Amino acid sequence: MKKVLFYQKGTPKNQIELWNINLKKWHQDFKLIHLDDPQAHEALIALLWKAPMEIISKYKNLKALISLGQGVDHIINDINFVKNMSVYRIVDPYMAKSMSHWMILSILNFIRDYEGYRVQQIKKIYKSRNCLDFKKIKIGIYGVGEIGKVVAKDLNSLGFNILGWSRVQKDFKFFKSYHSKDGFNYMIENCDIHICLLPLTRNTKNIFNKDVFFKMKNGVCFINAGRGEHIDEKDLIYFCGNKIKLAILDVFRVEPLPKTHPFWRCKNIVIWPHVSAETNVETAAKQVAKAIKLIHAGKIPKNKINFDLGY
Ligand code: GLV
Repeated sequence: MKKVLFYQKGTPKNQIELWNINLKKWHQDFKLIHLDDPQAHEALIALLWKAPMEIISKYKNLKALISLGQGVDHIINDINFVKNMSVYRIVDPYMAKSMSHWMILSILNFIRDYEGYRVQQIKKIYKSRNCLDFKKIKIGIYGVGEIGKVVAKDLNSLGFNILGWSRVQKDFKFFKSYHSKDGFNYMIENCDIHICLLPLTRNTKNIFNKDVFFKMKNGVCFINAGRGEHIDEKDLIYFCGNKIKLAILDVFRVEPLPKTHPFWRCKNIVIWPHVSAETNVETAAKQVAKAIKLIHAGKIPKNKINFDLGY
């Protein structure tokens, strides 16, 4: 039986069993094993989430790595090790929908001032608060790939005006799309809500920094569900409370966010523990099982990563 390595950081020990049960519904001819299994060196494929790549690199038979999430930055960080392998990611409509729900929750909280009403309730204050006019505000989504385009479509169906930014020009029915530095700057200067859903690549690292925050309108909402490294954290803190009325963050440079991190003390920052669109084993298993089957048969599955682009 062919061996497939499994490592998923930060999840319960029985996660391998959950994956095993769900993968076996679609393909049976393999065995999932932990890194410390004596047969681990036989594996051609590894299923990984934030694995210690220096340990993974010791398994010399590996030919393909499959990310157990939609992002692959945790795998291709060490490009020297992976450059002769193929890397794949999960693209799951369930996860895109789940992200869309979280974005809707976050945006409605901001425009209806949910936080303000919670504070009023504690003080027994019964009065209306300022509400942004959803017809007048612009929502900028940076990254309109498999997830971003679903978020854009759903927000559009709620009556919001959406602008989407991507690396290259793309045409969408539900929103106006921008690309290039000029397009990016236009959205930064004109949007009221900014959503980062970019993949983390060498071109998008620190893309939200002081120069960018400075160009934003006063009182915007900034939402990050991409990666912590997209933001210069100290610049975000500097602009929070003036330009940025509210920052809603689901991802951080160091996760779990250390208890001493200054974000915890910022009253204009809402912190979520990387849960906006968690991998759903039941819905993701079919494509992972199919990928395992194809790779073992010497074929190329869908959602292969292009190392030049970084996603
Ligand atoms: C989550 O961050 C993912 O990459 O799926």
